Amino acid sequence: MCGIVGYVGSRNSVPILIEGLQRLEYRGYDSAGLALIQDGSLMVIKKAGKVVDLVDLIGDANLCSHLGIGHTRWATHGEPNDLNAHPHWDCNKEIAIIHNGIIENYATLKTKLEHDGHRILTATDTEILVHLIEEMYKRADDLFTAVRLALLEVEGAYGILVISKREPDKIVAARKGSPLVIGLGENENLVASDAAALVDHTRQVVYLEDGEVACLTASSFVTKTIHDQEIIKQVEEISFDLEQIEKGGYEHFMLKEIHEQPESIRNSLRGRLLVHDGTAKLGGLEPVLDTLYKAQRIIITACGTSWHAALVGKYMLEQLTGIPVEVDYASEFRYRNPVINPGDVVFVISQSGETADTLAALREAKSKGATAIGIVNVVGSTIARETDAGVYIHAGPEIGVASTKAFTSQITVLSLISLLLGRNRGLPQDQGCKLANDLQSLPEKVAKIFGEASHIQDIAEEFKHAQNFIYLGRGSNFPTALEGALKLKEISYIHAEGYPAAEMKHGPIALIDENMPVVFIVPKDAIYEKVLSNMQEVRARKGRIIAVANEDDREIDSLADHVIRVPRTYSYFGPVVNSIPLQLLAYYIAIARGCNVDQPRNLAKSVTVE
Ligand code: AGP
Ligand code: GLU
Repeated sequence: MCGIVGYVGSRNSVPILIEGLQRLEYRGYDSAGLALIQDGSLMVIKKAGKVVDLVDLIGDANLCSHLGIGHTRWATHGEPNDLNAHPHWDCNKEIAIIHNGIIENYATLKTKLEHDGHRILTATDTEILVHLIEEMYKRADDLFTAVRLALLEVEGAYGILVISKREPDKIVAARKGSPLVIGLGENENLVASDAAALVDHTRQVVYLEDGEVACLTASSFVTKTIHDQEIIKQVEEISFDLEQIEKGGYEHFMLKEIHEQPESIRNSLRGRLLVHDGTAKLGGLEPVLDTLYKAQRIIITACGTSWHAALVGKYMLEQLTGIPVEVDYASEFRYRNPVINPGDVVFVISQSGETADTLAALREAKSKGATAIGIVNVVGSTIARETDAGVYIHAGPEIGVASTKAFTSQITVLSLISLLLGRNRGLPQDQGCKLANDLQSLPEKVAKIFGEASHIQDIAEEFKHAQNFIYLGRGSNFPTALEGALKLKEISYIHAEGYPAAEMKHGPIALIDENMPVVFIVPKDAIYEKVLSNMQEVRARKGRIIAVANEDDREIDSLADHVIRVPRTYSYFGPVVNSIPLQLLAYYIAIARGCNVDQPRNLAKSVTVE
């Protein structure tokens, strides 16, 4: 999620690190910092804000060092302030670390380390790791071994760089789940989370794999597994340009973010799903759990895509918990003087955590005495700070204006909340386990859908000149239909409407003729047959049907003009899987029409006005 860069060599590392961080900043970060070995001592300088704020802080201080590491943070644990900014250091300020990812068992490690006398200064999971390395350094001969031993005790995801003033010529790097690439130069070596930070200096690179640890000096590098087996790495040549690298080789951020979904959903679930117990553990909700267990009613408020996720949440929460759920547009909720009773809990959902209408709705709910819970992506954002408790979705930075990975992560988090509350309200363990297993398999199912991409591209080509689209689904796939229509509208400028499939006959059916594409979301669930009847109604009026259906559904072939296949899921979680082909369809149609998908006209990523 964040940006990491390290340099060891004959040149002054400071400008190289700053430039590297600037190259990584396109993803939008919340703080930045450097650790340098200068004249035998460890020096750390860090600041909340952008890289330019770090540059201001450095000012004309004469920093010169031949070894250093730099970080831009995208906070997951602890607010994005100066203290929580990386690098972090150990008790004696000998060792410094920068980290990308989440240490899942940090709370257990923290208790143990504090018991052993370590002083933990920040709210981050990362700082725990540097103290663990400090412990191991007491037993190991060198930093490389100490890092390796510490990582054997860590659960979670990381890309880390570690330096120590006791070994002032070395950078130790390790990876599990977060990318790291080593750049090999003349009398210098670099390492970064993204090749974008290296290309100005070298094109000879070595990609670290999960479970590998590397030790770099100016003239050498060694790689081992964390279990101490030496590995010989292949040196590769980067052939693509900087723009391509920033987008991970994808043509647009939106496409990159669509493809990141197996990983972003995994991150939303990470450390929270207790598969064997058939439940979830959500640390952020602990302060309000009692209130939540006793809730008489849940109100969810949000805007746009986040509002669609809220609607999906209504279906899941009501079915699994029996608590009545209302969903309201934040812009309406804030002005309609809503009735809030004691025992009501208000959820606010926002990717950015800064949407003005959602923030005002949150304040309205709080002023009426409601307990407010946030489901937010951006850590430390205003909504995250003003809610009483919350769950971060951990989808990582979303740059494309059209929300994609945040939507599926919002639903994933709502699924976890539904499971947790459901189990407390009498959902049997065996059913909880079935749901937990299904949730765990979502990333894999989502990844499978990318195999349909070229088929979807062909469909997009056929329909690129359409003037209107209708999207239909029932149950929790009704909000999926709304989201599919919104994606198409936003980026291709084709008028599109989403409806509950059965509602079509009450009006919109008048629009159907041979020029009207109708997208049906029709998984094999309890209301499958009902949706087929709605499909017959469209077919009888010569509408052109694109169906999103399950892999094993053959019946659909005779009814639809085009079928996009998706794996089966337990019906509540279906929207996570079923929305992926709709994102791809909107993307490919927009591209075929020559639209700017990352920055569609008239829109902004964060809507901070009413
Ligand atoms: C989604 O594609 C949109 N650009 C938009 O509807 C967005 O979801 C809405 O503005 C809410 O944003 P938020 O989640 O950051 O609060
Ligand atoms: N979990 C770490 C933190 O919150 C690292 C986050 C990141 O990847 O930037 O500080």
